[in-house]
Amino acid sequence: MKIAIGNDHVGFELKPTIKTYLEELGHEVIDIGTNSSERTNYPDYGKQVATNVIEKKADLGILICGTGVGISIAANKVSGIRAVVCSEPYTAKLSKKHNNTNILAFGSRVIGSELAKMIVKEWLDAEFEGGRHQNRIDSIRDIESDYLC
Ligand code: RB5
Repeated sequence: MKIAIGNDHVGFELKPTIKTYLEELGHEVIDIGTNSSERTNYPDYGKQVATNVIEKKADLGILICGTGVGISIAANKVSGIRAVVCSEPYTAKLSKKHNNTNILAFGSRVIGSELAKMIVKEWLDAEFEGGRHQNRIDSIRDIESDYLC
């Protein structure tokens, strides 16, 4: 798969480990940055990864900031994005099976690299179950179209 990865300056330290891991698993990585510890604004990276996914330049996205919160909130503002913040693998797996999440986010200040890799693996390996879960995703879509600015 093609996976877009984006991070702010706080997520920058954890990013290379995750990028290498994705490549070891056989995925192609689109690195959106940032690639230094110079202060940045996480919404810029959340938006860029989200648009890569929506425009089908990437199949899925991964986002890293301090907590995973701000960058996932930004990504979720892009219509059609379902980004989840995870600090354990169970939620990551179920978020794909039930919610068909297309972006995974986590916090470099919250989890270590080995746990992050485990979360990534569970998320990538899980498959959306469809059926009743698709109906609920359709309802989320309805909310998006009802409240479009
Ligand atoms: C940056 O200091 C920090 O606020 C950011 O990385 C993230 O944790 C926001 O949610």
